[in-house]
Amino acid sequence: MNYKIRLTVFKALELFPRKVADFLYLKIQSLFGNANVARNFVSGQNGIDKCKETISALGWDRMDAIIEIGSGWYPATPLLLVKEFANCQVYTYDINSFYSAKSIQQSNAHMGIESKGLIPEIHYYPNTDLTKCSFPDFTNQEVMVYSKFVLEHIPNDVIKGIHENIIDKIGTHKVFHWISPSDHRFFTDASLSIYDFLKFSETEWLKNHTKFDYHNRTRLPEYVEIFKSVGYTIETLKYNQPNEKVFEQFRQSKVDERFKHFTAEENLAGSIVLALTYTKK
Ligand SMILES: C[S@@+](CC[C@H](N)C(=O)[O-])C[C@H]1O[C@@H](n2cnc3c(N)ncnc32)[C@H](O)[C@@H]1O
Repeated sequence: MNYKIRLTVFKALELFPRKVADFLYLKIQSLFGNANVARNFVSGQNGIDKCKETISALGWDRMDAIIEIGSGWYPATPLLLVKEFANCQVYTYDINSFYSAKSIQQSNAHMGIESKGLIPEIHYYPNTDLTKCSFPDFTNQEVMVYSKFVLEHIPNDVIKGIHENIIDKIGTHKVFHWISPSDHRFFTDASLSIYDFLKFSETEWLKNHTKFDYHNRTRLPEYVEIFKSVGYTIETLKYNQPNEKVFEQFRQSKVDERFKHFTAEENLAGSIVLALTYTKK
């Protein structure tokens, strides 16, 4: 969908009460193929595959508890994590409440599970502020924090606050994050480039997106800095780079002050994979 039409629709949605707006947003997403059960499982499996590939190389073969940040609309990732990590419990947190009886049932059916509700290994915490919440007792358990395509939608100070809270309450743990730092409007509007949003000042960018498509525009070195500043060790850092033609177009284009001090490689780093460890002293 053309980003201008999309923006107009999202701005109109912001005028509705939150519950109605969320319902209409999900309807629109389903209409354009972004929110359906099969698609969520394909995307969920991509995340699991990326995670397995990354953590196997680090020898992380046992997980007792996984904390998912950003549950989304379907419990696809938790179901796949339970299947992948034997005897693992998944605790999935979201600032919103998006799971529905229907999305849970459809996801279970997709996995061949007859139960209508969430299976006992999945613990859902909607409407939860991860910068403040408490966690179950994970003493003597291998804990991994997991997120896919979530951190780019959270302001930097909140990302920092979430990890500080996890460090404070849980202590030693591991982390896997998969981040999509590109301009997401590009995925539905081919007239834009993957870095189009870097041309806007902060004020202009606020006018060009809504809470439904909030993107922090955080660049690779800023993510690295956030995690180092709270005490993580970076075990793996991987990212994609576009082809030379995109680099050349980027060098010719306007970039806002906020991004000028980053190299083209840092500004264009896409699909960031981070594996981190925190060890309590
Ligand atoms: C783009 S969706 C990704 C959902 C899921 N991880 C996936 O890959 O399908 C981003 C999710 O992050 C959630 N989210 C945004 N800010 C958050 C925060 N501060 N804490 C927890 N979840 C948050 C949103 O409500 C939404 O469900």
